[in-house]
Amino acid sequence: MSLQLFLPYEERTLSLKNRMVMAPMTRCRAAEGDIPTPLMAEYYAQRATAGLIITEGIPVSNKARGYLWTPGIYTREQTDGWKQVTAAVHEKSCQIYAQIWHTGRVSHTSLQPNNEQPEGATDEAPGDAVCFAYDEDGNPANVPISTPVPLEAKGIERIRNEFVQAALNAREAGMDGVEIHGANGYLFDQFLNSVVNTRDDKYGGSVENRCRLLLETVDAVSEAIGAERTGVRISPNGKFNSMPEDPLMEETFIHLANELEKRNIAFLHINDQGSFGMPPIPVELIQKIRAAFSGPVILCGGYDAQRAQDALASGLADLVAFGTSYLANPDLPARLQNGWPLNQPDMDTFYGGGAEGYTDYPVYEG
Ligand code: PHB
Repeated sequence: MSLQLFLPYEERTLSLKNRMVMAPMTRCRAAEGDIPTPLMAEYYAQRATAGLIITEGIPVSNKARGYLWTPGIYTREQTDGWKQVTAAVHEKSCQIYAQIWHTGRVSHTSLQPNNEQPEGATDEAPGDAVCFAYDEDGNPANVPISTPVPLEAKGIERIRNEFVQAALNAREAGMDGVEIHGANGYLFDQFLNSVVNTRDDKYGGSVENRCRLLLETVDAVSEAIGAERTGVRISPNGKFNSMPEDPLMEETFIHLANELEKRNIAFLHINDQGSFGMPPIPVELIQKIRAAFSGPVILCGGYDAQRAQDALASGLADLVAFGTSYLANPDLPARLQNGWPLNQPDMDTFYGGGAEGYTDYPVYEG
């Protein structure tokens, strides 16, 4: 009997050869101009053993960046650069979604046009979080995050439009769809969190207001490329990037799940930061979100074959995403299916550099 994890999956526009997803992971290997490279195409093609690849976070503008060398999708050259990636992945019968991203307050002046301050939900910087930017001597380094400027109505409208344009560019580049990055302490998550979001306009305060920016963006992107090609990623209970404990967390994410249910989106992707060494999502909350949202659910966060299989068998997830285990094992499905040993990920080569620790992880040779 074949385990569910390795069976094909068909739903909405997802047509997947198995139920394994390569999770989005920042690798900081874009070329000058934040342009995707042939090496990136090779990296993703090696991992097209998954049913679905969700790309690393792709900034939607030059103000959306929180790290050096993250590939963009807002210039002609960047969009064209992604074409080699999607072609190489499709060649191996794997679907690919672009994760479109604005890091909000998780950024640094050295990454911003004219060294401006980053834009966030408020003017408060996230505690002791760092980002990968330039230090005072102009050398790449982990630096403390800069104080943000609160977004005004005009900036909010511009950002919504940037997500729409990024989604259109993604489709032009051959992506099967996009995942809006609503997780991990970045822009949308900053609006969702009732402790961070102290705004007094229609984007702050009530749960409807805190969810408004993400939902308006989902609607605008859906109108442009189709709800069935628009996924959303969230990280309930997330503490990464110095996100504070939120007493309204549960009601926020249940409201969001109910709203997304009405919109027939491609999938809801839930990242459990337990695998980042942070507190996990209470399983009861995942169950409640699952009950509210009847579309495809992807769970991510430190899964091995057994836990993945259990999540699928219990109906909690339709698909399971694998992060660092996919990073280190391009042939992860075959390894899990056969019980073969796994390569261990090398953290020193996660961000930046070339082929080392990127495209040189070996497949299992027996
Ligand atoms: C990271 O670069 O560590 C990173 C980026 C995006 C995420 C999570 C982690 O959503």
